Amino acid sequence: MASLGFSRGFQFWHLVLFLASIFGLTSDASDSGDFIKDKLLGGLLAAGFDDKSCLSRYHSVKGLSGNPSPYLISRLRKYEALHKKCGPYTESYNKTVKDLGSGHLSESPDCKYVVWISFSGLGNRILTLASAFLYALLTNRVLLVDPGVDTVDLFCEPIPDVSWFLPPDFPLTSQFHSFNQKSDHCHGKMLKNKAVTNSKVPSSVYLHLVHDYDDEDKLFFCDEEQRFLQKVPWLMMRTDNYFIPSLFLMPSFDQELGKLFPNKEKVFHFLGRDMYWEYPTVTGEVISVSQPSHEGHQQTEKQIHNQKAWAEMYLLSLTDVLVTSSWSTFGYVAQGLGGLKPWILYKPENETAPDPPCRRVKSMEPCFHAPPFYDCKAKRGTDTGALVPHVRHCEDMSWGLKLVDN
Ligand SMILES: *[C@@H]1O[C@H](CO)[C@@H](O)[C@H](O)[C@H]1NC(C)=O
Ligand SMILES: *[C@@H]1O[C@H](CO)[C@@H](O)[C@H](O)[C@H]1NC(C)=O
Repeated sequence: MASLGFSRGFQFWHLVLFLASIFGLTSDASDSGDFIKDKLLGGLLAAGFDDKSCLSRYHSVKGLSGNPSPYLISRLRKYEALHKKCGPYTESYNKTVKDLGSGHLSESPDCKYVVWISFSGLGNRILTLASAFLYALLTNRVLLVDPGVDTVDLFCEPIPDVSWFLPPDFPLTSQFHSFNQKSDHCHGKMLKNKAVTNSKVPSSVYLHLVHDYDDEDKLFFCDEEQRFLQKVPWLMMRTDNYFIPSLFLMPSFDQELGKLFPNKEKVFHFLGRDMYWEYPTVTGEVISVSQPSHEGHQQTEKQIHNQKAWAEMYLLSLTDVLVTSSWSTFGYVAQGLGGLKPWILYKPENETAPDPPCRRVKSMEPCFHAPPFYDCKAKRGTDTGALVPHVRHCEDMSWGLKLVDN
């Protein structure tokens, strides 16, 4: 297996083009003129970075599929302004962190936060970062990212001048590993204990949105609970799910989402590209050429493995025709970044290949694997894949939900 080292001085996109030419992969905007002209991807990326700070940020080989709405661009700029005002060690941040000490807040703070707790494999992490970011955008919160042990080098800093990483001295970091469904500040547990009252708002709440979450945890997707959560300055979120499809079923977000994403099937395509994280940062690690990730199975918290996996997802996204396996978050990321509708291979059942063995998916959107099936208004179960035309069940998982354009 041939290997190829590359360092900060080497332009990542050159490497990708080189690999693309070897393997016959093609891309639709591969001459340099095109991407200098539109290196901000139609406004998705913020201007004002030093190009060299993260080479891959501006070096997108493949153009965007369609244009983001002007409204989305304006909301992103507004978000950036909020992030600058509220980011780590700003006056507002320092003040809001102080409230964590007392447990309850004195006055309504200027800045509120969603903290994304590092969790699960790389494919999931990219999908959950997109989900947490959209949630932050919809609720006027600032997203801060727990770097965990291996996230810092994988993603570019999205906002000029101010970090999106949670500072190492954030007071709750040492407790992240012990947050679970039994924690007193877990939203679901608070609901079970009838501890959710509007008179006493806690300074922080833990949101357990992991695949094993229960009926109370799932009430996160109800407007009534959002009205309570809105008052809480620090929301600590752990998830391994692309939960965006269920946000589209919430009346309180529905109108704003319609304006942000007139084309429903490109939510992840626009949120994922870059925009807020673009391709592997170049750290001089050795990346093998033939198949970067040869590990065979997913390993979490291993940085080099993650860098290889990232490189591979990125390479996959450059293909013209993509065939992915069912339930693969790895495939979802590649299809979303590449703007591709893949052919999906069904899982064999009873050791026989299904007939037909594969089909083309309805949209490039990832599948939400563990959605709630609850009608918040009627307070009973419902088929959430049959309520609106743009949220449907997935091709590769009959109970999953995905966004489709209709
Ligand atoms: C916020 O606190 C940090 C130390 O915790 C300090 O270095 C920084 O100057 C403070 N920021 C402002 C704007 O006062
Ligand atoms: C699985 O295959 C075996 C052998 O062909 C058959 O006897 C069995 O009924 C199949 N099971 C199901 C659930 O289809």
